[in-house]
Amino acid sequence: MTEQDRILQLREALHRHNYNYYILNTPTISDREFDELLRELSDLEARYPEMADPNSPTQRVGSDLSQDFETFAHVRPMLSLSNTYNKAEVAEFYHRVSEGLAGESFEICCELKFDGLSIALHYEDGRLMRAVTRGDGVQGDDVTANVRTIRSIPLQLAPGGNWPRSFEIRGEILMPWTSFEALNREREAREEPLFANPRNAASGTLKSKQTAVVAERRLDAYLYYLLGDELPADGHYENLETARTWGFKVSDAMCKVKTLDEIYAFIDRWDTERKNLPVATDGIVLKVNSMRQQRTLGMTAKSPRWAIAYKFQAEQQSTVLREVTYQVGRTGAVTPVANMDPVQLSGTVVRRATLHNADFMAALDLHVGDHVLVEKGGEIIPKIVAVDEAFITAERGQKVEFIRRCPECGAELVRYEGEAAWYCPNESGCPPQIKGRIEHFVSRRAMNIDTLGPETIDDFYARGLIRDYADLYDLTVDQLSGFGDTRIRSARKTIQAIEDSKQVPFERVLFALGIRFVGETVAKTLARRFRSIDALARASLDELLQINTIGQAIAESVIRWFQDADNAFLVERLRARGVQLQLSEQVLAEQSDRLAGKTIVISGVFAHHSRDEYKALIEQHGGKNTGSISAKTSFILAGENMGPAKLEKAQKLGIPVMSEDEFLALIG
Ligand code: IVH
Repeated sequence: MTEQDRILQLREALHRHNYNYYILNTPTISDREFDELLRELSDLEARYPEMADPNSPTQRVGSDLSQDFETFAHVRPMLSLSNTYNKAEVAEFYHRVSEGLAGESFEICCELKFDGLSIALHYEDGRLMRAVTRGDGVQGDDVTANVRTIRSIPLQLAPGGNWPRSFEIRGEILMPWTSFEALNREREAREEPLFANPRNAASGTLKSKQTAVVAERRLDAYLYYLLGDELPADGHYENLETARTWGFKVSDAMCKVKTLDEIYAFIDRWDTERKNLPVATDGIVLKVNSMRQQRTLGMTAKSPRWAIAYKFQAEQQSTVLREVTYQVGRTGAVTPVANMDPVQLSGTVVRRATLHNADFMAALDLHVGDHVLVEKGGEIIPKIVAVDEAFITAERGQKVEFIRRCPECGAELVRYEGEAAWYCPNESGCPPQIKGRIEHFVSRRAMNIDTLGPETIDDFYARGLIRDYADLYDLTVDQLSGFGDTRIRSARKTIQAIEDSKQVPFERVLFALGIRFVGETVAKTLARRFRSIDALARASLDELLQINTIGQAIAESVIRWFQDADNAFLVERLRARGVQLQLSEQVLAEQSDRLAGKTIVISGVFAHHSRDEYKALIEQHGGKNTGSISAKTSFILAGENMGPAKLEKAQKLGIPVMSEDEFLALIG
């Protein structure tokens, strides 16, 4: 056998082992043997680059090259389902179907409603060609490269299967609970924001620009809808069962029934059993099984008349409210938290629930000792939905009233117009606000002094070493180290990281200052427009408001920040220590007004720069980048393979299309 033949043989074998492992859960070789075959294939592929194949099993590990997504118009629109919440509404659906079919008998396919994000997979000649997100139902993002890393999605169907030459199969991409929990644990350790639920995590992952990130996160997929011109059968259920034999993961829960009672039994069974599933579900889906009957029933503007979703009630438990405590955040916002007797809810023990703000809390009319109903919906943070009236007695405990003074520093709380939260106004003297601001200052996207975690900051603050972020620049190795080699080494590292932060560009410094409402994007805009902190400090309200993306709240917050004498002093101390308070010569030299007033849409794949680089270039030259084409678009910066839908729209509106080279010439 030639080495080229061996490549083909290995690919086929690995596709089969992958299927045995990820779909059937019955591997026939050990992980080690699998890895050995994979390594052999990978070595051979390196020697025969002309045999490269994006669907090779070696491509499942992804790469860390940055990619952009093209929009892709769905061949058939991706509809959504209308929801029902109780059995009466399910019965209405059943009777509507019966009427619509003029009394003809029909079958219903019952399925789980998976809580992830929907995906359309296109296969040609047994090969995965394209994977597209739902998007707005008419067009979505082409996320093929990311989807290729999902092990339960076949890249190449087993030869000899009776699959049609061309078909589309739709389903849901999910992050299993175990992957989700592991991911959040890691993020917590790195102090990154947590994902609220597996759906958000799956969606964030699938939109990742690096396929290697997707590969690492271990997504899964269930398929629930086969479409195409040459389907095996008229029955939806039968088609999915056949697709299962082609190598697709189809849920075992799927079943076909005739009567309403059978539907109710399916609902009741899965309302409890879903708690043992490895992935999140939020209901069930009922579909008329015959595709012929589906066509007879047709659809409304948004959803088919032949299918409906039934949403499970979020799980609720009753427990006793013991106390309400208050947390003060970096901005001084005070959040009430309910502390309750521990109760088991959707697989975890719940002791605390957020009460959001004073209004939310007041609306619940809570008294200490009340029995309360706690709910955990799609979100991870539980919430109190109501006082459990069954337990209310004549002598209720003390009514819970929102506090008047800051629990941390005693300052009288204030409320700003149009905002739900109460704030502690003692910005310079309230410990959690001070520590929170320092934590924000050192965070990765700000000054990136990542050796300083919250505990260290707590410790330095308690020892009186830091009172604000400018103090960081006066720390010495001696102050930090105490005794022991490791302490000295880590102290040196910290001092070095602080030293390095003096090179952080002005726009990130501006973000790091922690001015309310000045996030990364606003900081960038302000830095580019004013170029130095002194110019920004002198800016009037009107000047700020003239900037497109700066509204009243942001502008006022900036003015207020610079009016505060303490902040002016902070800026002077940062300046004295060498922190960047103006745009670097390099950035200044690269700026121009050539694109001022222009709104530009980017589309396609580019040869000279990445899409993000083009976005940055547009901003640097005073232009504005937007996502979709409208009458306001000045021109389209188009690379290779611009989406046909976009091209058509541009032509219709008469918007000029500019090539990469023309654009680069324009900005010089
Ligand atoms: S069928 C016209 N089946 O629920 C048929 N959808 O609002 C449309 N979903 O966007 C889809 N599990 O993301 C179908 N077994 C299932 C499903 C399912 C979850 C999602 C899907 C869709 C949404 C419908």
